[in-house]
Amino acid sequence: VSLAPYNTFGINQYCRELRHITTIAELKEVTAELSAASEPFYVLGGGSNLVLTSDVDMVMLKMDIRGIEVQQDDEAYHLTVSGGESWHYLVSWTLRENMPGLENLALIPGTVGAAPIQNIGAYGVELKDFCEWVEYLSPLDGSITRLTAEQCEFGYRESIFKAALKGKAIITRVGLKLVKAWQPRLGYAPLNQFDPMTVSALDIFNKVIEVRRSKLPDPAVLGNAGSFFKNPVVDAATFSTIVRQFPDAVAYAQDDGRMKLAAGWLIDKAGLKGFRLGNAGVHEKQALVLVNLGGASGAEVCALARHIITTVEQTFGVTLEAEPNIVGDINAL
Ligand code: EPU
Repeated sequence: VSLAPYNTFGINQYCRELRHITTIAELKEVTAELSAASEPFYVLGGGSNLVLTSDVDMVMLKMDIRGIEVQQDDEAYHLTVSGGESWHYLVSWTLRENMPGLENLALIPGTVGAAPIQNIGAYGVELKDFCEWVEYLSPLDGSITRLTAEQCEFGYRESIFKAALKGKAIITRVGLKLVKAWQPRLGYAPLNQFDPMTVSALDIFNKVIEVRRSKLPDPAVLGNAGSFFKNPVVDAATFSTIVRQFPDAVAYAQDDGRMKLAAGWLIDKAGLKGFRLGNAGVHEKQALVLVNLGGASGAEVCALARHIITTVEQTFGVTLEAEPNIVGDINAL
């Protein structure tokens, strides 16, 4: 089965078999069956954080479990959302239902089940700001576990699902809390032009969509996986060395005194915006996004990523870390 329609990079590699999973019971059954037969499998959400570097001799499980349930108390709406729901659909749906809160996270590709893994974030807000719990299936024994947000160990583009539970948990449902005393979050640059007294959640939602559309390529036109690298966090001493040489460096202070550098700025400043290697390229409008210029292979994308890592290292002494999952024969950068 070609995986081209199932990864936003649009890389044309094949898998042995693809199964659409629509219920938790089906997920339990299929994973038990595959585990018993020692058959390797891989769980696919929206395929928006994936680079395939070869055909994969695995069964791909496409998570299509849907459902949004709402309970409320005086303080908040409590949502139980199935993993296969589209994240952006959820954001639009909550706004339509007059449950604001998620508007800064509009248009992020992928599914709800994938959102906690990398603690998706944009425009000053992260999933962890709303997450109450995450429920997962352990494919080893078929058990279902619910973790509190705290147990998920969320950090910047990090969680327990990328660390201790990597490969050991299939997220089935996510609990989100949207407080009724809504407050706009306008800290991030394109939103700070709004007046907090008059802005609506819909204004923010529309603005975020407009900004994302202007910078980030539409995967249907130009394959990509969003930001390809994490913004690297460096200590104060490293940062001051960089600033001495590059006074215009873009960075954000962290609570612990370290600095988060804008990787897009580093790549841009290193002269790589628009750079091409084979059929893979650095996006012209946002250097943090790598794109498929047409028929790119995952190996080409990885070669480009390696070139960027080396160049940025030589220029700034900072090592970039790739964000997407790299799956296939070349599985490291
Ligand atoms: N910049 C440049 N040149 C570039 C790109 C960026 O100089 O080619 C500068 C910008 O001018 C800006 C700074 O770098 O001052 C940061 O750029 P931007 O606001 O576009 O955000 P980002 O740090 O590159 C992060 C997230 C995005 C998220 C945006 C908005 C990461 C890895 N990426 O990008 O998330 O949408 O902030 O909040 O944290 C994703 O993870 O896939 C993603 C798109």
